[in-house]
Amino acid sequence: MRKIYQILVPICIVLMLYACKSSKDEKTFHIGFSQCTMSDNWRKTMIEGMERELTFHNNIDMVISNANGSSNKQILQIQQFINQKVDLIIVSPNEAKPLTSIIEKAYDAGIPVVIVDRKTTSEKYTAFVGADNKLIGQNAGIYANIILNGKGNIFVVGEGAKTSPTIDRHNGFLKTINHYPNLKLVKSVFSARKPQNFQNQVYAIISQHPDIDLIFAHNDRLALMVADVCKSLGLNKKIIGVDGLYGDNQGIDLVSKGVLSATILYPTGGEEAIKTAVKILKKQPFNKENQLFTTIIDSENVGIMLAQYQKIKEQEDDIKRQATRIKDLTRIFSSQQNTLYLTVVFLLVVLLLGLILFYLLREKQKSNQILGNQNRAILEQKDEIERISQLARQATEDKLRFYSYISHEFRTPLSLILTPTEDILQRKSVDVKETRYALQLIHKNANRLLRLVDQLLELRKVDAGKMELEVSQQDLVSFVKEIVSDFNVKAKTQQIDLQFICPFSIMPMVFDTEKLDKVLFNIISNAFKYTPNGGLIHISLLKNIEKIEILISDNGIGMSKEEKERAFDLFYRGNQNISLGTGLGLALSREFVSLHQGDIQVESEKGKGTTFKIILPFVQMQSGETEVTKSLYARENIEPVMPVVSNSSKTHDNTIVLIEDNQDLNQFLTQKLNQSYNTVTVETAEKGWEKILDNIPDLIISDVMLPEMDGFSLTQKIKNDFRTSHIPVILLTAKGQMESQIEGTKAGADAYISKPFNQQLLEEKIKGLLENRDRMRRRFSSEITNPSQIQKSERKFLVEFELLIEKNLNDSSLSVEKLSKELGMSRVQLFRKISALTNKNVTDYIGDFKLLKAKALLKETDKTIAEVAYETGFNNPSYFTTFFKQKTNQTPSEWRNS
Ligand code: FRU
Repeated sequence: MRKIYQILVPICIVLMLYACKSSKDEKTFHIGFSQCTMSDNWRKTMIEGMERELTFHNNIDMVISNANGSSNKQILQIQQFINQKVDLIIVSPNEAKPLTSIIEKAYDAGIPVVIVDRKTTSEKYTAFVGADNKLIGQNAGIYANIILNGKGNIFVVGEGAKTSPTIDRHNGFLKTINHYPNLKLVKSVFSARKPQNFQNQVYAIISQHPDIDLIFAHNDRLALMVADVCKSLGLNKKIIGVDGLYGDNQGIDLVSKGVLSATILYPTGGEEAIKTAVKILKKQPFNKENQLFTTIIDSENVGIMLAQYQKIKEQEDDIKRQATRIKDLTRIFSSQQNTLYLTVVFLLVVLLLGLILFYLLREKQKSNQILGNQNRAILEQKDEIERISQLARQATEDKLRFYSYISHEFRTPLSLILTPTEDILQRKSVDVKETRYALQLIHKNANRLLRLVDQLLELRKVDAGKMELEVSQQDLVSFVKEIVSDFNVKAKTQQIDLQFICPFSIMPMVFDTEKLDKVLFNIISNAFKYTPNGGLIHISLLKNIEKIEILISDNGIGMSKEEKERAFDLFYRGNQNISLGTGLGLALSREFVSLHQGDIQVESEKGKGTTFKIILPFVQMQSGETEVTKSLYARENIEPVMPVVSNSSKTHDNTIVLIEDNQDLNQFLTQKLNQSYNTVTVETAEKGWEKILDNIPDLIISDVMLPEMDGFSLTQKIKNDFRTSHIPVILLTAKGQMESQIEGTKAGADAYISKPFNQQLLEEKIKGLLENRDRMRRRFSSEITNPSQIQKSERKFLVEFELLIEKNLNDSSLSVEKLSKELGMSRVQLFRKISALTNKNVTDYIGDFKLLKAKALLKETDKTIAEVAYETGFNNPSYFTTFFKQKTNQTPSEWRNS
């Protein structure tokens, strides 16, 4: 970029300077022209000639000074030119002698001097341009002799006696006529330049000398004056003039008119003087003496001369026009040239600016690109950071969830250790069977805790890379078959179609028995966990040359896409409240299969089932026998501990629905609750909801962490359905944290008991809630239509129920069936709901409501008793009276009048 500046800036400057320079900038020469006089046409013609010539030289500037016939004035003017240091002086000296020294001075000062027309007395000049005046005089003498035929009197009239032309012309004339003895000079007169005064003098002379035959006038102006004088005297004289100018009343014109006999051509030398000056200024060769041509113009040649001058005049006019035109064109050209230069400069400036702009734009683009790249990089980094922090957040959430599940998984077995222990400790006497059941529960759950701890440690070991395979060659077929058969009893209890499908009878293979046993046991347990009763679990063993596949398929609840993708993720349990044993088990299973250089995959569809595929490399020992080893470690006892069966078929007042997925806890609680309540037990919230609707129980106890629908959602469902909204709910869960309690309370739970819980506390809670409900409905039963003591949602239900009765008040056929149908409930559900809320049966409730209405109508209206009876749905007024009396111990009229 700097280079461009370095080149373009000087170019622009030069062009600009050049543009500012006109043709005048080519060196201009200053010429000073000192003219002795300028009053006559001859001098004017000289200047015209000079100017014409100067049109060809634009670089010459000529200043003219006019001495008006004064030699002193002319000296001063020449001095001025010297002072001005003009490049050249042209001078037509007024008089020879007085002007000689100033001209010499100029010459000595190094200023070239061109003398025109008249001479000085010195040779110190650069060049002379002019005709030979002596020759002019001689020509006049010769011509006088011719036209006088060698005899006659002559009168000479001249101007400025001291000027060189006058002297030279006169001398030349005298010298010539002296050759002719019969030619006689009668008189000669020379005067200053005042033709008017001079005319009188000439008049006098001619008058006095009537014998004069010819007059030689030193110029045509004098010749005309002489002709005028002769004319005024009535004389016809021969007159010879000098100059021979072209133009009206000029020499040639006067000759052609016959006023003059002849005129001797005396060229002005204007053009020649400038030509010589130019040569000198341009230092070109030139002649010092430039004598101009002269001739005699008389009646013989005046016609040709006129024609020639005519022609010359035309040509001069043409030249003038052309010169003007050239001048105009030059001006136009020069201005166009200037415009062009300026345009070029402007274009260059624009180009320069364009280049600068382009450069700046490119720089900007570059920096934008850099910025863009940086921005992109920053955004990418930001995205990456966000992604990592998202992952970190996810990992933290997963870990927190994992710890929460660990605590849950620990709390359930702990409940089953602590609760039976406390239960036995609280009793004064316990029988052996009960103690044994409690101890079995305690033992089983203590072992479960131990195994959970073992699994955690194993996972740590795998994480730390310290887990190693202990392989031996075993028969895989009998190994798998045996594990499957361990689930036979469980399958039978849950009516599950459990099958091991294998086309091989024996398959010796190298594997780690303990680890593969854990993998299979976990996955099959998992299948049992999520397969409903009556479902199927099929285990199959396939093989090709390089690998074997063990498939465990069930038609259970299946997994969502996300759950499937993260099935083996230790910290992820999705929305499912599945047991940690399984979670740890799947994570561990994947690690154990990986240790075998194998793979574990899962295929699952929500609602359709799940298939786990264990792929192991088929490796056999070269030689060596196949051991047949049974599992060497203690697996989890999958059989539930059987509770002491109480054969009490006693029916209690209150029914409780218990929802708990841990079979042992389920059975333990059932056994305990059965002593005071009718207990309906289920393992999932879905089944629990069915049982709640079937029974409209007095109380519900539910675990929170349940497969599929959890305890919070179930509570919400119960509280949002007016058929069940009145039923107290106790949430029983391992989740002990405050948030869970808040969540439970938000869902509408009436009480919240965290595991491990105290059995007595639970029983007290149940009792308290039931009593509370009883108190409430007792109060309510006495306060019909003013149910201020019950919950808002229940009040709403009763208001709706009463509005319905009111709408159908006069309908004598109004029945419980009709009302329950309109409310979208079964007869039993309505019965139980009203009974639970008000401690009354529906019929009584309707009766009481009608009575209340009848009472109001009797007091507040004039309607007859019969009318009131019909209006409140009694189609028989006497039955109305009986009913009224029964309820109030007053007849309707007595009530009205009371
Ligand atoms: C003009 C003039 C001419 C004459 C010449 C002599 O001023 O008088 O008529 O020929 O000068 O210098």
